[in-house]
Amino acid sequence: MSLDVAALRQQFPILSRQIDGKPLIYLDNAATTQKPQAVLDAIIDYYTTCNANVHRGAHQLSDEATRRYEQARDTVARFINASVREEVIWTRGTTEAINLVANGLAQRLQHGDEVMVTEMEHHANLVTWQQACKRAGATLKVVPINARGELDEVEFANLLGPATRLVAMPHVSNALGTVNPVKTLTAKAKEVGAWVLIDGAQGIAHGDVDVQAIGCDFYAFSGHKMFGPTGIGALWGKRSVLADWPVWLVGGEMIQEVTYQDATWGELPNRLEAGTPDIAGAIGLAAAIDWFDSLDKQAIQTHEKALLASAHAQAEEFDGLQIIGTARNKIGVMSFMLDGAHPADVGFILDRQGIAIRTGDNCAQPLMNKLGIPGTARASFSIYNTMDEVDALFSALGKARTMLA
Ligand code: ALA
Repeated sequence: MSLDVAALRQQFPILSRQIDGKPLIYLDNAATTQKPQAVLDAIIDYYTTCNANVHRGAHQLSDEATRRYEQARDTVARFINASVREEVIWTRGTTEAINLVANGLAQRLQHGDEVMVTEMEHHANLVTWQQACKRAGATLKVVPINARGELDEVEFANLLGPATRLVAMPHVSNALGTVNPVKTLTAKAKEVGAWVLIDGAQGIAHGDVDVQAIGCDFYAFSGHKMFGPTGIGALWGKRSVLADWPVWLVGGEMIQEVTYQDATWGELPNRLEAGTPDIAGAIGLAAAIDWFDSLDKQAIQTHEKALLASAHAQAEEFDGLQIIGTARNKIGVMSFMLDGAHPADVGFILDRQGIAIRTGDNCAQPLMNKLGIPGTARASFSIYNTMDEVDALFSALGKARTMLA
């Protein structure tokens, strides 16, 4: 079955708007995806019909809000194949989820311990571990990538050892589009007894994430990268690991008993969720998952692959364009440089033609430094993009090349 992209686009109101009189061509999906009407409706419906605080009211509105909010947790648990719902901890997004884990790890790391990350990290999955290691006097090891932007699996294995406490790696690189073989790498890390965290910010919207099949301990992701609202995401963690993971935010909701001098902590998931949560966000994210789940995954993957293949084929024919990141297993992201042009200027010229891309360091300064470039222009595709939009990108790049020559 092929994807009816025209019908799909009808469900995204923002895709019919114009930018400076030109139809919007939205190619910044790795930064955030647009939201279908089903998600917008779910949020409005929540605020319109049952807005109340959860878990604490002695009234029906609160019961209804609590039910929808906890059903949203069930939806996430089912979507990523968590073994139990308590393994899903709401966070503001991937960054906060990784910080939750890093904060706990920092309390457990000792001098001489090692944490492993990769050269392709987003700052969210680098600065967190770098700072945790600094606090504990532990060592950060960085797995190199090859010229295509794939992880060096031999070095990955070489760097693992008895001192490795945690391996943190991206499912998919936001800068290069590389899809990492997280299941195989997790199995290697488990041979030395390390915990494994997957930064799933870019992975969640593109494939069928099955945390149990991957075998990791933690999987972090954001709702807004998969058609849900901003400000909501989740940390999934194995119950056996999370159950005594150090608490971080303290206050209401996460406690069991409190005296003036002391407090004890509640059970999962509450012990890791302090304060009033983003109730509407959780409900909106569940609506995004339900909406996404109603689509044919195979057709989505075929469509996204076709978009990327067309972009790569046109890029190869385009004089003076260099693709950054040519991994054999790659999805939805084309970072590139135009000879003699600063990425920011390319982005500016494309924007004048209604085309939204990202430019800059892709939140991966060390990776850009390693590649010896100031940053890239980056087009990232989603299920609602069309082949015509890919063609329009290259026609606009042709104009940019002429203007910047
Ligand atoms: N991490 C997001 C990106 O890659 C913001 O654009």
